[in-house]
Amino acid sequence: MNPPLAIDVEGLEKRFDGRCVVRDFSIQVPKGRIFGFLGPNGSGKTTTIRMLCGLLTPDAGTGRCLGFDIRHQAAAIKRRVGYMTQRFSLYEDLTIAENLDFVAHVYGLDRRRARVDEALEQLGLGQRRRQLAGTLSGGWKQRLALATCVLHQPELLLLDEPTAGVDPKARRDFWDHIHALAQGGMTVLVSTHYMDEAERCHEICYLAYGRLLVRGTVPEVTAGSGLVTWLVSGDGADALARTLHNRPGIAMAVPFGSALHVSGTDAAALEAAIAPWRHAPGLTWSRTEPSLEDVFIHLMDSAEDNFQ
Ligand SMILES: Nc1ncnc2c1ncn2[C@@H]1O[C@H](COP(=O)(O)OP(=O)(O)OP(=O)(O)O)[C@@H](O)[C@H]1O
Ligand SMILES: [Mg+2]
Repeated sequence: MNPPLAIDVEGLEKRFDGRCVVRDFSIQVPKGRIFGFLGPNGSGKTTTIRMLCGLLTPDAGTGRCLGFDIRHQAAAIKRRVGYMTQRFSLYEDLTIAENLDFVAHVYGLDRRRARVDEALEQLGLGQRRRQLAGTLSGGWKQRLALATCVLHQPELLLLDEPTAGVDPKARRDFWDHIHALAQGGMTVLVSTHYMDEAERCHEICYLAYGRLLVRGTVPEVTAGSGLVTWLVSGDGADALARTLHNRPGIAMAVPFGSALHVSGTDAAALEAAIAPWRHAPGLTWSRTEPSLEDVFIHLMDSAEDNFQ
């Protein structure tokens, strides 16, 4: 039997001022999954997320979120959703506990004191409940913000770039928490520009120019790109990028630190293109898997050719 779906939408479209910013967007997300939205600025991630949960009415398309019709039952959906908006902020001049209590009040929750205490306990902030939220570090602010978004125990959690500007350790802790929530049955939609976060999603999709270009697990997306990639290391590897750029057979040459990823979609043509440098002194060549970043850069290059 197929798992129950948290999201099941078909052909969503949104226009702003006559300009189509999301077109023909269809997706199914099973309950309890962490689903990532990737794509460049302005590709339609936020707009799509808002349509999926009934916050924004699509100009075309239909679908259900948590079993409710996104067009006609938006109020029922909103009650069951936690939404950490892009650039979400806390009330910095309220204490940690007051922030939680305020949100509990807005949602009209019962057992307010107990819920706030539970949330503080889970966060490990019980001892600091009277500290002003504005004095927390960036990572802790995000964790507290997440706690305010799940206080009413939503079935679906929407996180729009929740860790922008947060350090790697704090991001990892944040993601551990997201995984714990998903294991408890919550469905999570998260937009991000970070590749390591994409790799922590059960499934991802990539948007460009308002279109869904690919979706799947990270290995599926990587394999589906059809890219063949060589890793070049050694003195001058990164400088080679400019020389190789735009040669026939080479889709792209992307420096990673002092090494270089050289990719193409035709293994033989790629090999012919790199042949003059394969035995250059000081350079080491080996075949590697394309990184997710390689795949997205390639998708973006192809999308530019197709859509502009
Ligand atoms: N309310 C609005 N009115 C007019 N245009 C809008 C509105 N909301 C979004 N847009 C436009 O729609 C396009 C998609 O925006 P959206 O915010 O969905 O992109 P995004 O992928 O979330 O980008 P980012 O990574 O920068 O957050 C952009 O060109 C944006 O300017
Ligand atoms: Mg956005």
